[in-house]
Amino acid sequence: MKKSMFRVLSIVLCFALLFGGAIGTSAADDAEISRVSCVVYGDGATGRGFTWYTPEEVECSIAIYVLGIDVTSSLDVKYDCSEWEGNFMHKAYVSGLKAGTVYTYRITAGAAAHNGSFSTDNGDDIVNFIVVGDVQASDFDAFEVGRKVVDKAYDVMPFAEFYATLGDYTNDSTNEEWDLYAQSFGGINSNTTHVPVTGNHDSNKGWFNSMFALDTTESVQTNNGVNYSFDYGNVHIAVVNTNDMIAISNAQLNWLRNDMNSTDADWKMVFMHKSPYSLGKDIKWPDACYLQESLAAVCDETNVDLVMSGHDHMYVRTKPLNDNKVVDQEDGTTYILAGATGSKRYEFRKFILDNYFSQEILDVAIAQANGEYFANGNLDNLDESYKGGIFNTVSVVGGALMLKSYVVNDETQELKMIDELTIIKPQGENKVTFTGENVNKGNVMDTLASFADLAMYVFTKWVPMFLKTLPDLIKEYIATGTF
Ligand SMILES: [Fe+2]
Repeated sequence: MKKSMFRVLSIVLCFALLFGGAIGTSAADDAEISRVSCVVYGDGATGRGFTWYTPEEVECSIAIYVLGIDVTSSLDVKYDCSEWEGNFMHKAYVSGLKAGTVYTYRITAGAAAHNGSFSTDNGDDIVNFIVVGDVQASDFDAFEVGRKVVDKAYDVMPFAEFYATLGDYTNDSTNEEWDLYAQSFGGINSNTTHVPVTGNHDSNKGWFNSMFALDTTESVQTNNGVNYSFDYGNVHIAVVNTNDMIAISNAQLNWLRNDMNSTDADWKMVFMHKSPYSLGKDIKWPDACYLQESLAAVCDETNVDLVMSGHDHMYVRTKPLNDNKVVDQEDGTTYILAGATGSKRYEFRKFILDNYFSQEILDVAIAQANGEYFANGNLDNLDESYKGGIFNTVSVVGGALMLKSYVVNDETQELKMIDELTIIKPQGENKVTFTGENVNKGNVMDTLASFADLAMYVFTKWVPMFLKTLPDLIKEYIATGTF
């Protein structure tokens, strides 16, 4: 992807200049329309979901253009509008888009208008995208730290087809914070496709669901976040909520198993918020640890290639794993804690190693708070240049996947590549083994079974680990004031 896209985009912009069409940001934009986002809806080739806010209840519409020509009548557009926390929230769910097409759109709300753009997946086996971790900001300057990192990511990969955020957009998920987030990220979110993941800081009062128009109609339902999946080229991605009392329930695991067995895409990935493998402070809680066997078992069984997550604000990559043991790359799942994109960052807790998981499985880790670096067994390679926000780029070209991760130095804005991974595998080997309807709302028995499984894990595995590390945790608390 795709020099041709840019040629097409150039033609589109020429049309805009010649005919004054609804393309790009223009003087017609109006502050009365805010919080605009464009997210994947259904699949990457044919659907997008749009959200925008207005301060008053007003008639709204969205028009979709190709080369300046209004094609909205050929599409299926469903609208939704409701009052939300003092504003009016509008959503438009658009289906029937054509694959491999550059689109522009114009949202109108009364006399106000807002223009944006996106392109659809062309279905080939070349896919490029950006993945970022926690921004978790409260004030505008802190949001801008994260936004500048995403800008840098697009400098490195201007041809990215979408960008994913792995949760914790905000700190307290308030009206004010989401407003600041939208002010900072609005330009990006209007002019690309976003793939949102819910973080534990995002779900207060349902704010996350109110910011993004996602397709959850065929997903398992959870309380504090969204589960959905989609195809983009030869990649199948499942987004999993990990923010309920049980980080991942039996109903979610069943949904994920069915979802991953319903695709013959060459590459299978999971995006979620909490991380099963980390050297940070949050791995000590049973919710994250439980993912090491509950989620990991489904990834083992269904041949998931890559799991990307956030929550603990550092970068960690495991070696390829199956049953928590290192295996050959093509036989295992690689787990990546994608690093904090914003300014809140954590230090290593070295006593985690060999207590919460074997040091053997760890390949690379960066503590963003102090620049500590771990690779291939060396935990003492301290380098201040690792202090900064992190982003990841992923390129899939047929049977090759290349991941590159970068830190953006806070002071100098210089880029430093912190990790690089290539996975090669044969194509066309995944088979569809589930053809049922992929809906699993869960029921009382599922819920009870989920609690029983978690309780069994906590008492037999987590409590002994926790007690073993308790002296170190107390020392850490005395030294840092953080448990
Ligand atoms: Fe989090």
